[in-house]
Amino acid sequence: MSMAVRSGRLWACEQRGALALLLLILAGTLVILHRVIQSPLLNQYGILQDHLERRQSAPNTRSTRSIRTILLWSDFFGDPRWKLSWDTLGPQELRDELRCPVYQCKLSNQHHILPAVDLYDAIVFHAAEMYPLLRPIPQQRSAHQIYVFALMEPPGETKHRLDDESGFYNLTMTYRLDSDVVWPYGQLLDIETDAPVAPSERPHWRRPPASFNDSTIWDLWAGKTKMVAWFVSHCETLSKREILAERLQEFVEVDIYGKCGTLSCERGNPRCDSMLDTDYLFYLAFENSLCEDYVTEKLFDALHRTIIPVVFGGADYARFLPPHSYIDANRFETVADLARHLSLVAGNPKEYVGYFWWRRHYRLAFTSPFCDLCARLHDPGFGHKTQVYGDIQSWWFNGCRLESHIGL
Ligand SMILES: *[C@@H]1O[C@H](CO)[C@@H](O)[C@H](O)[C@H]1NC(C)=O
Ligand SMILES: *[C@@H]1O[C@H](CO)[C@@H](O)[C@H](O)[C@H]1NC(C)=O
Repeated sequence: MSMAVRSGRLWACEQRGALALLLLILAGTLVILHRVIQSPLLNQYGILQDHLERRQSAPNTRSTRSIRTILLWSDFFGDPRWKLSWDTLGPQELRDELRCPVYQCKLSNQHHILPAVDLYDAIVFHAAEMYPLLRPIPQQRSAHQIYVFALMEPPGETKHRLDDESGFYNLTMTYRLDSDVVWPYGQLLDIETDAPVAPSERPHWRRPPASFNDSTIWDLWAGKTKMVAWFVSHCETLSKREILAERLQEFVEVDIYGKCGTLSCERGNPRCDSMLDTDYLFYLAFENSLCEDYVTEKLFDALHRTIIPVVFGGADYARFLPPHSYIDANRFETVADLARHLSLVAGNPKEYVGYFWWRRHYRLAFTSPFCDLCARLHDPGFGHKTQVYGDIQSWWFNGCRLESHIGL
């Protein structure tokens, strides 16, 4: 082969190579160009801007200020008003009575304030009772409506079967902290900021001081002559709290008031409350079920008195109460250990008074779940997003257990 032919071929080769390179560059440029055109910088931003501008100029009929209507479908343990003061509460009552930050809602148990049942924005069902028997479910349903599963009782204490209500509810309103709307039995606010601190999945508690004294509490301690008080009317429970109390009686004196005990104190008699301040050192706030976040008014009522609550339940109490403000039975291996701790605290006023440090920083409060529900109905996503509880029974039953940590 001559040099000329070889160099000619080489030249052709180079030429083809260059062409391929050129095509590659061109293709690359096209890809980049395509990407740039598709880029949100060029594309989405403009679309979004158009959308927002259009929304601003044309007032939306479903604007965040329009009134949402909530129907209370069933009674709440025989109370059609769900412990509220009227049959119908409008924005003014929500603002002035319930102190809702978002109050543009109308809440009613009157089934005919709107011409059709599918026009209500939300319908609330009390899922502790057998409502399908007493009052059938709504005849029509709109896809924009929200059906609310409202419940304050633990799974074992309800008279309502949930296994055929899959796909029925859109929103949960219960004591569980993973509910869409949390409905706690009580709340703690920071006195300084007035901000709610608990219940919350991870509250930011202040640290208890190294030493704390309060002359009023010290003096009350000096007058207390009795160990433990327990008020109870539901004697046999899933949590077996009655066994825990019975075992505790082997070590310390437990005075049991009510149907399940030997003592009685008339309901409404102020002496029943004041003796907790003056006579007793400890108060049993034992729950009937060991379920996550299930902490009832028993505990919140006791926090108003100068008495240390001894808690027993399925909750992580750190989500509800400040550190060193209560004694959790489930933190002990045996009932004897718990009893030993109670005796230790009872006999040491400095130790006893230390359990009340939190009162300088926190105060008890009450919040209505209907404020939160109203706010939910004004969420920007409302009416654009769907949510359904496919298996409400599993969700609801999860988080309960039968075994306690303390050995019984
Ligand atoms: C706490 O206060 C009481 C009453 O003022 C007082 O008698 C007691 O000695 C104080 N205790 C401590 C540990 O300072
Ligand atoms: C509520 O649930 C129903 C029934 O599953 C569903 O058809 C509807 O779209 C849901 N609505 C919302 C607003 O999530």
